[in-house]
Amino acid sequence: MRKKKKNSSPESDSAVTRIRSCWKIFNPGKTAKMRITCKKCLGPMLLIGLTLLTLFYAWSPGTSSVVDVRPRQGNQLQKLLDETNQGIISGHHNDIAYHIKEDVASRLALNTCVCLADKDTLHLPFSNLLFSRAWAHNVSQAFLESHPDPEAAKSRRAQEYNSFQRRSYSPADELIIAEASSPLQYPTQGVKVRPLKTIIIPGLGLKEETRSNHVVYLTATLGTFDVAATVDRVDVKGEGAKHMTLSSPVLSALNRQLQFVTYTNTVFHPKTADTVRFATEAHQSFFSIKIGHATIPKLYNSGTQKEYNISALVTIATKTFLRYDKLKDLIDSIRQYYPTVTIVIADDNKQPQPVTGPHIEHYIMPFGKGWFAGRNLAVSQVTTKYVLWADDDFIFTANTKLERMVDILERTTLDLVGGAVREVTGYTATYRHTISVEEGGEQGDCLHIRNGYHHVIEGFPNCVVADAVINFFMGRTNKVLQVGFDPRLSRRGHLEFFIDGLGSLHIGSCSDIIVSHASKIQVPWSKTESQKAYEKFRYSLSSAETNISDEIFYFKNRFKCMTSH
Ligand SMILES: *[C@@H]1O[C@H](CO)[C@@H](O)[C@H](O)[C@H]1NC(C)=O
Ligand SMILES: *[C@@H]1O[C@H](CO)[C@@H](O)[C@H](O)[C@H]1NC(C)=O
Ligand SMILES: *[C@@H]1O[C@H](CO)[C@@H](O)[C@H](O)[C@H]1NC(C)=O
Repeated sequence: MRKKKKNSSPESDSAVTRIRSCWKIFNPGKTAKMRITCKKCLGPMLLIGLTLLTLFYAWSPGTSSVVDVRPRQGNQLQKLLDETNQGIISGHHNDIAYHIKEDVASRLALNTCVCLADKDTLHLPFSNLLFSRAWAHNVSQAFLESHPDPEAAKSRRAQEYNSFQRRSYSPADELIIAEASSPLQYPTQGVKVRPLKTIIIPGLGLKEETRSNHVVYLTATLGTFDVAATVDRVDVKGEGAKHMTLSSPVLSALNRQLQFVTYTNTVFHPKTADTVRFATEAHQSFFSIKIGHATIPKLYNSGTQKEYNISALVTIATKTFLRYDKLKDLIDSIRQYYPTVTIVIADDNKQPQPVTGPHIEHYIMPFGKGWFAGRNLAVSQVTTKYVLWADDDFIFTANTKLERMVDILERTTLDLVGGAVREVTGYTATYRHTISVEEGGEQGDCLHIRNGYHHVIEGFPNCVVADAVINFFMGRTNKVLQVGFDPRLSRRGHLEFFIDGLGSLHIGSCSDIIVSHASKIQVPWSKTESQKAYEKFRYSLSSAETNISDEIFYFKNRFKCMTSH
């Protein structure tokens, strides 16, 4: 179990290597005695970390309420604790009995997620329609079965994932545990240095009984220490080096000197952290200094008005294909309310027709480049702070108040806010979803999509926070560009954008900002030729198209399976 955990969790693995290599670095030629002291201190720390990690990975997840696996978990936990505790953490009360709280234990995440469809427990006629049950899809199976060389695909994904983890790893994310009753005072978080620059390390101190000589050691790996000022009766050794020793017969003088200790980053790496060891003969502590450039802001100068100037703040982006009549209706409806807002149109028709007018930018793309490619192109041309996405068959009405969307984006930390789409039938949809990802080990993670939202937004009673919203939304342009739209999704695609954005976009949804949808439900004989051609293209999902979303989920997002409403 522990071995499996190590394999599937490179982070915990590297935690081990980090501590190992760190203690190699600060003990290159020291005596055996020093090594033992160090090992003694590190041992419990490492083991507490390992135990916690092992426990985290040992419990089964509480996925769908279908299978009760709790008794098995209890046994697993017992076994694990017995295994892990065997003669390791001496003096840590390991012989005292405990009682597992299964309802809590079963909620802990473990690397073995599964995707289970909801069972039809009611067996009533139409219960399918009344209660939306989650379906499950085996992404691995769907992708690998149609793949000519599944083993190669598997190992390529594993390789790519490993290098992704190496790139995104930061020593600052590592678990560090502070020892009990340490006399050392140090900053636990918030120390930052820009690459190759120098800072004063704040908060260093020593509190111990008076003795003939007080000594502290500082060790770093990516930088050097020095002092910005000297204090009488303090002896400093190793200035300008990775290992510095400060000693003094007077404790207050040593503490004064510690206020002037500097750290200089010497190894250039624009996004990492240095784990510093701060120690006395008998105690040691670790803290990390984050190394990196500050994020360069991207600010938009949208002028100064008392009221929101939509033309200065927002660009409307859309994509058209075979629906110039609809597009014209959309533009006309926008102009009634926002005569000078810029409209960016991405167009991948075979025979593009001119779309002209003031404040219109019409971009012609190669034929059939598709849905997400068009979204990407349109959004990439936006120069305003916000971009509003609208489909080409939407119609603006008096309820389409873009000011309200701007207002919530200006006054909250949201990056994107969705509105509502009113169908011809009068039905209004907000299409709110929550998305969660569970850890699934080597085979990939589990993706769960559900209808619903997280919470109502204070001060905005019609707005909630969700993970995915309808295809009528306003977002901060730079954040939408950061996530991007995967251009391989050519005919269909919507939630894929929000899955890519999970973890970087803070998303809201307001039911009172409404756009109308030009009729979708129409009797076939009243359809125009271009409508029929469009529907043929858009709604006939070819097998290649299905395979692409399996590939995106399996390979790009590294899922093994999914459940959804
Ligand atoms: C999904 O398919 C794979 C084979 O590709 C299989 O090993 C796995 O057990 C399946 N998972 C589920 C939940 O059916
Ligand atoms: C609103 O912004 C547009 C575009 O920047 C500008 O032309 C217009 O004068 C502004 N309107 C007002 C009332 O400031
Ligand atoms: C898509 O997958 C199916 C099996 O699920 C396979 O028969 C078909 O050849 C695949 N299509 C492409 C274009 O890869």
